[in-house]
Amino acid sequence: MDHKKTGEYWDANAENWTKLVRLGYDKVRLHLTLPKFLEMLPEVHGMKGLDIGCGEGSNTREFQKLGANMTAIDISKTFIRHAQEYEEKCKHGIIYRVASAVDLPFKENFFDFTVSTMALMDIPEYQKVINEAYRVTKPEGFFQFSMTHPCFNFGIPKFIKDENGRRKSIILSGYFDKKEDWIDEWIFGAAPKEVTENMEQFKVPRFEYTLSQWLNAFAKSGFVLEEVCEPNPSDELLEREPSFWTERIVALFIIFRYRKLPLKK
Ligand SMILES: C[S@@+](CC[C@H](N)C(=O)[O-])C[C@H]1O[C@@H](n2cnc3c(N)ncnc32)[C@H](O)[C@@H]1O
Repeated sequence: MDHKKTGEYWDANAENWTKLVRLGYDKVRLHLTLPKFLEMLPEVHGMKGLDIGCGEGSNTREFQKLGANMTAIDISKTFIRHAQEYEEKCKHGIIYRVASAVDLPFKENFFDFTVSTMALMDIPEYQKVINEAYRVTKPEGFFQFSMTHPCFNFGIPKFIKDENGRRKSIILSGYFDKKEDWIDEWIFGAAPKEVTENMEQFKVPRFEYTLSQWLNAFAKSGFVLEEVCEPNPSDELLEREPSFWTERIVALFIIFRYRKLPLKK
């Protein structure tokens, strides 16, 4: 499967995804991955930024609120239409465009920084995406992105539960097996049945690579690793949202920040 076919799957998910995100059912993003992403983000006030794979634009708006001048792209026309409609109403000043991350429609060194939240693992041509992010980021600029954790978030995991029925351990295997692309089917678990009963499950193409494949792809690009975070729920969050227990057993997500080195004088 290539990025275009993957884009068709995402476009088919976009209508219901947008509805559920805007009703607040994307709880992992809201309570865990986005707060950690923002915590780790360097100062962006007054800087020109690009969000790659922006979806309906919730996270892009968070970056804009920090004072960045954001442009955002997504391969799905439906997601971009929803993002633009929101922009027309609320006038944040964000520019949205339909484009694929493997071929960014921007000049070299155009952005002070690039970000991407939970999209890189969804694009089979990941080396091209990394190279494109590098190309459009200015020297000394950064690329910060989140994705599913390659070591702990693959295949369909099984769990061992404790005497109270709470997930205690995760059973994973086949990390080094050559993986075929496959289609994961799910919907936001926080959404009540009455909201989702007439909705189709999302169909998400999965491409699973090992940690070393990711790190080596970045090593080839010229980016230099600056910081890593494996978001996990605080005790206080677990108290409020016990469904986050799985994220306490292992790291299901990972955030990296890479830096483009300055030009040599
Ligand atoms: C899991 S969603 C994440 C959306 C949003 N960034 C967020 O964090 O909520 C993955 C996004 O990647 C987009 N995407 C997939 N392939 C893409 C590609 N080749 N170029 C740009 N966007 C792509 C999808 O359309 C979708 O919006």
